[in-house]
Amino acid sequence: MNRLDGKVALLSGAARGIGAETARLMVEAGAKVVIGDVLDERGRETARTLGDAALYSRLDVTSEEDWRAAVAAALDRFGKLDILVNNAGLFLGKDIEAASLAEWARLCAVNLTGVFLGTKLCLPALREAARESAHGSAIVNLASTAGLVGSTQDPLYSMTKGGVTLFTKSAALEFARKGYRIRVNSMHPGTIDTDMGDQVLVARARNLGTNDIEAARRQVIDRLPIGRMGTPNDIAKGIVFLASDDAGFMTGAGLVVDGGITAQ
Ligand SMILES: NC(=O)c1ccc[n+]([C@@H]2O[C@H](COP(=O)([O-])OP(=O)(O)OC[C@H]3O[C@@H](n4cnc5c(N)ncnc54)[C@H](O)[C@@H]3O)[C@@H](O)[C@H]2O)c1
Repeated sequence: MNRLDGKVALLSGAARGIGAETARLMVEAGAKVVIGDVLDERGRETARTLGDAALYSRLDVTSEEDWRAAVAAALDRFGKLDILVNNAGLFLGKDIEAASLAEWARLCAVNLTGVFLGTKLCLPALREAARESAHGSAIVNLASTAGLVGSTQDPLYSMTKGGVTLFTKSAALEFARKGYRIRVNSMHPGTIDTDMGDQVLVARARNLGTNDIEAARRQVIDRLPIGRMGTPNDIAKGIVFLASDDAGFMTGAGLVVDGGITAQ
């Protein structure tokens, strides 16, 4: 199950957190990976730990030029591109009244424009690889539980992730209609222990009227049916599944990995 032998994947925002763990699991599953990020040093280090199966390409997801360079790097070094993981994302953690227009624009640029550009600019290579593959190519978009239900901490983040949820379904339908053989699915994590997870806890603590991040963490855990926060590995396993041929009958779907928070 969940093997990716012979596959080549490009992951945005994979220098750290969920993206880095997904790159690691993908290599373990037999794939070659291109790690894109704006954190050059961290991204190179993440790629280095994965050896010859990985390379780092600077990728600001808001830049068409960077996407072209990342796809070219995948083709030059590994010969094709089967999988795109649109993982890069920003969290803001501000109320509607506190957020500025510039902050909204930045959130949109990374969380929405980045997903659109990645999909559009990887499409030719993904189509090409799909022609040669039994089950076609795959795109996995990182949405969130905040893309399914409203967020108590960050309404603007929630608006962008809701967009990712429906873009995923629409792209799946478009590519199916056109016969491209590219599956598109979304991953919906709950609160996960990463740098972004810490930002979520800071916002929650602020809303509780305290600086006590541990109090915020306890509150999150108390509300989680599974009784713990998620790890990058919990999410990476789901992404690898969606990217693999084992998910060959899934497209336009969302996989919720949230410790049960949205079941309530
Ligand atoms: N951590 C959570 O609780 C959580 C929950 C739901 C969804 N998510 C989503 O999962 C994805 C990964 O989040 P994470 O928790 O690993 O966060 P993280 O902050 O640890 O990692 C995000 C990565 O994206 C990169 N990035 C930011 N702007 C970029 C840009 N313009 N171009 C390229 N890369 C850029 C960052 O440098 C970082 O390496 C995000 O899309 C996030 O919204 C996270």
